[in-house]
Amino acid sequence: MPTIALPMLHTDRAFRDAARGLLGAGVPPDAVLWQFNGNGGDLFADPPATVAPTAVTVPRAFVDLMNRVVWHSDPQRFARLYALLWRLRVTPGLMTDRGDPALAHLMRLDKDVRRDKHKMTAFVRFRDIGESADGNTRRRFAAWFEPSHCITEPTAPFFANRFGDMDWMIQTPHLTAHFESGALRFSPGAPKPPLPEDATEDLWRTYYANIFNPARLKIKAMTAEMPKKYWKNLPEAELIPGLIANAESRARAMQAAAPTLPPLRSDRIIARLPGQATPDALNGCTRCPLFANATQAVPGEGPDRAALMIVGEQPGDHEDLAGRPFVGPAGQMFDRLAQEAGLARDAVYVTNAVKHFKFTPQGKRRIHQRPDRPEIEACKWWLDGEIAAVQPRLIVAMGATAAYSLTGNGKTMTARRGTIETRRDGTPVLLTFHPSFLLRQPDATRRAADTALLRGDLALAARWLAGTA
Ligand code: URA
Repeated sequence: MPTIALPMLHTDRAFRDAARGLLGAGVPPDAVLWQFNGNGGDLFADPPATVAPTAVTVPRAFVDLMNRVVWHSDPQRFARLYALLWRLRVTPGLMTDRGDPALAHLMRLDKDVRRDKHKMTAFVRFRDIGESADGNTRRRFAAWFEPSHCITEPTAPFFANRFGDMDWMIQTPHLTAHFESGALRFSPGAPKPPLPEDATEDLWRTYYANIFNPARLKIKAMTAEMPKKYWKNLPEAELIPGLIANAESRARAMQAAAPTLPPLRSDRIIARLPGQATPDALNGCTRCPLFANATQAVPGEGPDRAALMIVGEQPGDHEDLAGRPFVGPAGQMFDRLAQEAGLARDAVYVTNAVKHFKFTPQGKRRIHQRPDRPEIEACKWWLDGEIAAVQPRLIVAMGATAAYSLTGNGKTMTARRGTIETRRDGTPVLLTFHPSFLLRQPDATRRAADTALLRGDLALAARWLAGTA
């Protein structure tokens, strides 16, 4: 019986080549013995004559699954993968059969590996180990981590990308990853080394104590996300028992504290809105269902009679918590581009088409969702009021939601960007991209080009107001 001994390093490639060879030679799963040679010995301890890799076409879904499951610690993982591969020859649709027990088992292993990789990226804590004696001036860090599976090799590139400007080493019981002068290499694992405490430990503790929200404490969810097995290597973990013990009294104190109040300048503008509009009325708005989940309504802010009004889509996660528009990543991008375009943020009135944050919860995160038309139309009452109170000479609509609210035209922005349309009351509306659209753009060249367009549109607004456009 052929025995295939796979190495600790590059296990994925070795398994792929071996499986191809065996499949090409028609070797059935029950005629192969798979071994994991953790010491990195010969790839084929007893190479069968037929094992030379042959070209085999397999579904992409299998390749993706295989590339993760090979790192699992289950000794049967290679046999299970090869058995599935063998069946795929005659049942090509197998990868979509969620009821198939063999596939379901492999998918569970896949989930374990993904989870373990995620834990490694979240819970590795580097310690500064000082400069090297050889005169290399790059800062050097070391970390100890105990993964449940053999995920050090496939996870190391994440750290190489994230910490490319320093030298580091992550030691685990089965493998050590070294990153030196931009090159990644691996050596055998080792027992836990004595690592020195350093200042970053205190930083972690301070950070953790500050972001810990006692009002959201769910001990079960917390230990699922940060299992106790990782605690012993996390500097901040020593704070957890104390924070849990005080959580109830801290949550009560938080509830007693006043919510974030809208800034003063928006109070005055909201107070000038038609009807019974007051800041409390905006916060108590139930014109659409979005009020139910948001922390608070976020009014616009800026000078009472700003010549320029900027309208975005809706508050994001940061804005919802702060009670102020455009203070998160999109706001920071807007501030930078506006400044480069010659616009001072505190000279413009900045607001949104929709005043409550719309999101779906995903674990602990709140994922932004675009408001739909009835929500935009319900909130138009507030935006119209702001426009009537401020009476801007020009409005810049950033993104399709603002454009729709201001012009009633719901067409996409691509063809309209950079043009000026007119609101029903005659106010000119310059249409441009939303900064979040740029932040989401994965292609760097496109992002740079679209950023230049948004900057150019803001500069056009500045020239238009100065009477030079
Ligand atoms: N995106 C918006 O449209 N508005 C904000 O206030 C923040 C992000």
